[in-house]
Amino acid sequence: MTLKTIGQNNSTTLPKPFLKWAGGKTQLINTLVNRLPLNIKESHIIDRYIEPFLGGGAFFFYLKRNYSIKESIIVDINPDLIISYKTIQHEPEALIQNLEELQTEFLSKELSTRKIMYYKIREQYNKQKANFNYNNFSIEWVKRASFLIFLNKTCYNGLFRHNSRGEFNVPFGDYKKPQICDSDNILKIHKSLQDTIILKGDFSIVKKYCTKNTFVYLDPPYRPINNTSNFKSYSKENFTDDDQIRLSEFFIDASRCGCKILLSNSDPQNENPTDTFFQDLYNGYEIQKVKAIRMINCNGEKRGFVNEIIINNYVGVK
Ligand SMILES: C[S@@+](CC[C@H](N)C(=O)[O-])C[C@H]1O[C@@H](n2cnc3c(N)ncnc32)[C@H](O)[C@@H]1O
Repeated sequence: MTLKTIGQNNSTTLPKPFLKWAGGKTQLINTLVNRLPLNIKESHIIDRYIEPFLGGGAFFFYLKRNYSIKESIIVDINPDLIISYKTIQHEPEALIQNLEELQTEFLSKELSTRKIMYYKIREQYNKQKANFNYNNFSIEWVKRASFLIFLNKTCYNGLFRHNSRGEFNVPFGDYKKPQICDSDNILKIHKSLQDTIILKGDFSIVKKYCTKNTFVYLDPPYRPINNTSNFKSYSKENFTDDDQIRLSEFFIDASRCGCKILLSNSDPQNENPTDTFFQDLYNGYEIQKVKAIRMINCNGEKRGFVNEIIINNYVGVK
C-alpha cells in the first residue's frame, strides 16, 4: 500500500485540530494541497515541515494525517496556545482527566448554571495570566490548557479573542452538548507530536531551520478587511504592515536557503482594488486569488465570500 492510501484510509483515526481558531484554514485545505511542491505531491514525504503561525493547525494536522513528515517545527507567538500543545505533547493523561472533570460538571448543569460556571472559569483563566510561568512546565500548565480548551469549546462562536488588556472576553456560547474532552483525539495528537519541535515566539525564530528539503507554510494574521474587522486581534499583539514587510523579507531570505514556501493571506483588493501592498512585497512571485468565506462585519455574525491570496516560491515564479 502506498503512503497516500494509508493516509486516506486512516484519516478519521488520525489527529485533527483540538481548537477552533480564528483564521483557521480548514476551508482552504484542498486549495493548499493542490499547491504543494511537486516532489511532496508525488512522494507523500516531507523531510522537514515548518509552520510558524500555527493557530489551530488545520493544515499541519491534515498533512500529519495524509503525508509522512520526518520532522516538524511548529511555532506561534501566543503563549497560551503553545503551552496547550506542549501539555498534550508531555502530559495528555493529566489534561484528559481535567477536561473530563470539567465536561462532567458542565453537562450535568442547567443552562443558567452552565453560564455561571463558564464565567467563573473565564475569570480564573484571566486572573491566572498575571503571574503565570510560561517558561517552565508545571501542573499549572495542565490546568490552564484545560481552561483554554473548555472556553474554546463553550464560548460564543468558538472564537479565541482577547481585549486590549489581553483578557479573554468572549461571551458564553450556549451549545447543547459541547464535546469538551475528546480524549481519543488528544492521545492521537500526543503520539503525533513526539517528533515535533514546539516553540513560542515570533515567526523569525524558525529562520535557522530553513534549509533545503524544508517545506514552510506561512499563514500570518490577516491584514484587516476594514478597520473594525475582528481579524485584527488573535492575541493582544497586532500584526502590523511592518510585520508583513518583515515576513516578506523572511520569505525572500528563506527562499535563498532553498526551502519551499507556501503563503496565504487576505487580499486587501477586496476592499480597495488599487491596494498593491502584497504585489509590491512579493514582486516576482505569482499571486493567485482564491475564494473563501469570511466574517465580514464587526460583530462577527455576517459571512460572505472574499478573495484570499496564495503565494509560493516554487511554481509560477515570474
Ligand atoms: C491566521 S492565524 C493561523 C491559523 C492557522 N493556520 C489555523 O489553521 O488555525 C495566525 C496565527 O499567527 C499567530 N501570530 C501572530 N503574530 C505572530 C508572530 N509575530 N509570530 C508568530 N505567530 C504569530 C497568532 O497567534 C495566530 O495563531
